[in-house]
Amino acid sequence: MNATDSETLVVGGGIAGCAAALEAARAGGDVVLATKAARPEETNSYWAQGGIAVTRSDPETFRADIIEAGAGACDPDAVETLVSEARPAVEDILIETLDVPFDTDGDEFDYGREAAHSESRILHVDAATGAAILPRFLAYLDEETDVTVREETTALDLVTHEGRVHGALLEQDGAVSVHFAGGTVLATGGIGAAYDRTTNPDSATGDGIAMGALAGADVADMEYVQFHPTALDTALVGSDGDRDGDESDDTGTFLLSEAVRGEGGVLRNGDGERFMPEIHPDGSLAPRDVVAGAVASERERTGAVRLDVSEVAFDASFPGLAKRCRERGVDPEDGIPVAPAEHFCCGGLAADMDGRTSLGRLFAAGECARTGVHGANRLASTSLLEGLVVGRRAGRQAVGVEPEAVEVSEPRDSDPDLPARFASEKADRLRRTMTEYVGLERTSDGLARAATSIRRLKGEVDAYTRTRTSRELYELRNATVTALLVVRAATENDESRGCHHRSDTEVQYAD
Ligand code: SIN
Repeated sequence: MNATDSETLVVGGGIAGCAAALEAARAGGDVVLATKAARPEETNSYWAQGGIAVTRSDPETFRADIIEAGAGACDPDAVETLVSEARPAVEDILIETLDVPFDTDGDEFDYGREAAHSESRILHVDAATGAAILPRFLAYLDEETDVTVREETTALDLVTHEGRVHGALLEQDGAVSVHFAGGTVLATGGIGAAYDRTTNPDSATGDGIAMGALAGADVADMEYVQFHPTALDTALVGSDGDRDGDESDDTGTFLLSEAVRGEGGVLRNGDGERFMPEIHPDGSLAPRDVVAGAVASERERTGAVRLDVSEVAFDASFPGLAKRCRERGVDPEDGIPVAPAEHFCCGGLAADMDGRTSLGRLFAAGECARTGVHGANRLASTSLLEGLVVGRRAGRQAVGVEPEAVEVSEPRDSDPDLPARFASEKADRLRRTMTEYVGLERTSDGLARAATSIRRLKGEVDAYTRTRTSRELYELRNATVTALLVVRAATENDESRGCHHRSDTEVQYAD
């Protein structure tokens, strides 16, 4: 098998991976960034709409908002680090280095507001902030630094030896090679591809979490899967809901940013009534888990929930969203049909704020890491922020160790009998199971059914991943491993808290 090496290997081309690679290179490291994406559009971060929260009036209110949203499950020290490094990291990388054109209001930034924020503190570019950052970031790494960016390169497995990680097996154009590294940073994004309706791209197959877990790294908080309350309700716009991740053939759902509610958008049920004020004093801007639960039950009860944008300068403030609605035959003036969709995994590989995991020389940053900043429910516009801050810190740690060549067993394509459509059919089954039993509401019976079905699925998939090396199969394996971690954590935790709701138990977190 061919072998390459570098001091630092970063897996993932979203904001966390780019920040880690940039910082490792600034620290003098020899860095390779491997991303399975062919274009920035395929990364999870590209799809982030709302923006990046930073301290405005005082850090204490920002800290308090994160901890309140996290339903008592945040690590206060991690939150402290996130808040204190937010503005310096944004200024250094996004403003001074990349010159991201954040929206302004006169001479000031136009700070936006989203749910559960006690003030307007969100830097944004329209409601397409990730799309404004990612192409710049990747281009900058490519053109202005010594980082080697390997696109369309899939990490299949980590290389481990005596409790340490020494790099990864990489697949590119069908060829598998080993890449040895002194420090390996996983920054692979979320898990949305395990659900029918998600705001993530199809590439969000939980790769880093699965590879880390299979290598023996600790994971935590996997039951806290956040559902965003307002994704386009494809059932009401005549779409088949097919998520092919291709924006030019856009038939899937898409996010209607919380920023729309921050600007005055309100939710109405199928009878035209505003239902949120009765449920929470913050109405449509209540914490995400509360709004998502209410949207799901009102949609079920009255047939539809619509985002009423009549009080919002929708076309002027959200031109990208207005265009996408109209392309899908929805006139925003009539109210935009919405439904909850899987959005963010608050759990992941257990990591500190330097990205250090339980395995030597393995770091994790961004959505695939569980650093404790999100607790049981993430505050809006803190995901790009966490990726930036933790990615930057992890990059500084993942340098200075020479790569070591260790023994690696070679996977090979040796089984010609992989049935056609095997991966796509199994992926459909996984999504159906997760959506039915591991969504907003969970019960022990449903979770047990999910566990049985996904274990069987994993057995079928494993039989092929032992002999095949295709990206599609490994993504399916990773999605099933991650799904099982969610199911196990949700089964073991009978307490409803934040975005984990067990409707079969009375155990309810109360602060
Ligand atoms: C949104 O724009 O509503 C999503 C922002 C986020 O999830 O942080």
